[in-house]
Amino acid sequence: MLFTKSLAILASAAMVSAYNTVTFVNQDHLDRTIHFDVNPGHPNLPSVDVLGHQNVTYTIPYKWTGNWFSNMKGTPRTPGMLGEVCFNSWGDLTYFDVSAIVNPNDHVGVKKIWPVGNPENNSGCDDFPCNNAYYQPDDVQTKADQATDFICTLGTGYTHPTRSVDIDAPIFARDSVEGKWISRHARRI
Ligand SMILES: *[C@@H]1O[C@H](CO)[C@@H](O)[C@H](O)[C@H]1NC(C)=O
Ligand SMILES: *[C@@H]1O[C@H](CO)[C@@H](O)[C@H](O)[C@H]1NC(C)=O
Repeated sequence: MLFTKSLAILASAAMVSAYNTVTFVNQDHLDRTIHFDVNPGHPNLPSVDVLGHQNVTYTIPYKWTGNWFSNMKGTPRTPGMLGEVCFNSWGDLTYFDVSAIVNPNDHVGVKKIWPVGNPENNSGCDDFPCNNAYYQPDDVQTKADQATDFICTLGTGYTHPTRSVDIDAPIFARDSVEGKWISRHARRI
C-alpha cells in the first residue's frame, strides 16, 4: 500500500516536471552546431546541428540552467555569443538573455531569444553590438516570461521583430539567469 502510494507521488512529480523547448531558427544558408554548457548540478545536453535555413526544436529539461552558443558546423568548439537560460525558476518564470560577455565578436551565431507567441519580450539583437544584450556583468538585461517554449535565432536573414524594441517589460540582473537570484530577491522583499 505504502509502495503504491509512493509510486503515485512519483508519477505526479514526473507530471510536474514538464520539459521546455527551444526552437533554433537558422536564418541563413550556413550549417551550424549548437553547443551547451551547464551550470553545476544540471545535466549536460548533447550538441545539435542546425542546417542552413532549418528550424530545430530542442527539448530542455525542467529547471535546466545553462547556456548555448553557435559554431559553424565542423569547426572547433569555441564559445560565442551566448543564449543564457534559467528555466522554470523564481515565480515560475523562465529567465533568459543573450550575452556578449564571453565573446562579443561573435556576430554570426546566436542573435535573439524570445518566448513563442511573445516576440516583444526578447533579448539580443539582429545586429551587434546593441543595447539589448549583456556586455558588462553588472548590466541589467535578463528578461523573464511564463512561457516554456522559446525561439532562438541564429545568423542573418530573417528578422523578427524588425527592430530591438524598448518595451516596458520587467528586466532582471544577470544573477537571475545563473540561478543566484533567490538570496538577492529575498533580501529585497
Ligand atoms: C522557422 O521558425 C520561424 C519562427 O517561428 C518561422 O517564421 C519560419 O517560418 C520557420 N521556418 C521553417 C523552415 O520552418
Ligand atoms: C514579458 O513577460 C513578463 C513575465 O511574464 C511579463 O510580466 C511582461 O509583461 C512581458 N512583457 C511583454 C512585453 O509581453
